Amino acid sequence: MPAGLHVSNHPFVRAKVTRLRDRSVSPKEFRELVSSLAELLFVEATHDLATEPITVETPLAVCPGVKIAAQVGIIPILRAGLGMAEPLLHVLPDAIVWHLGLYRDHDTHQPIWYYDKLPKQPNIDIAFIVDPMLATGGSVVAAVDRLKKWGVQRIKFLGLIAAPEGVAALQSAHPDVSIYLAAVDTHLNENRYIVPGLGDAGDRQFGTR
Ligand code: PRP
Ligand code: URA
Repeated sequence: MPAGLHVSNHPFVRAKVTRLRDRSVSPKEFRELVSSLAELLFVEATHDLATEPITVETPLAVCPGVKIAAQVGIIPILRAGLGMAEPLLHVLPDAIVWHLGLYRDHDTHQPIWYYDKLPKQPNIDIAFIVDPMLATGGSVVAAVDRLKKWGVQRIKFLGLIAAPEGVAALQSAHPDVSIYLAAVDTHLNENRYIVPGLGDAGDRQFGTR
């Protein structure tokens, strides 16, 4: 039974992803939109995060409340995932960040590993893999394979735009991984780019085209 596909229907998310697609948007605004969308989706994706009860003294009384009880790992897939990691740290400063470096080969479209910065122990309760684009699904499936082999039990994926092909590939390889997205588009083109998509998310964030 797949863990679930969540595509945000929030007006902020729909309006921001519309702007993100616009080819005339500058890298600066593109990064701001990626950051803002990541934060909005993170709030939706952490709705079931473990808490524990605490009390706090207000100027008037002792008041019951909660603190976050889960150790969270944020795993950006380099390079485009970088822009989604920083905003999650603003929401959850105690999270740990592990970087995984993968790029898609231009001809085969297969993911190629070039960096893997995992600590000795998988000392987290839940991992959030972040990457704006889920196209064929090859990169995210490889990242989940790596984290599971290393011992992470609970994983969620946070992306911005997906193709149906990528969603199907991830759900088929890892049905236990919940997927949180801003949009699912219609298809992949012959170069395995998402249509209508937004082009190359790394290039648009970092101005490399
Ligand atoms: C993009 C994107 C994903 C991957 C998605 O990265 O950020 O990591 O492609 O494609 P897939 O689902 O078919 O694997 P890219 O390879 O362009 O590298 P970059 O982030 O360094 O630009
Ligand atoms: N990677 C991107 O950055 N964009 C796509 O559409 C597909 C893969």
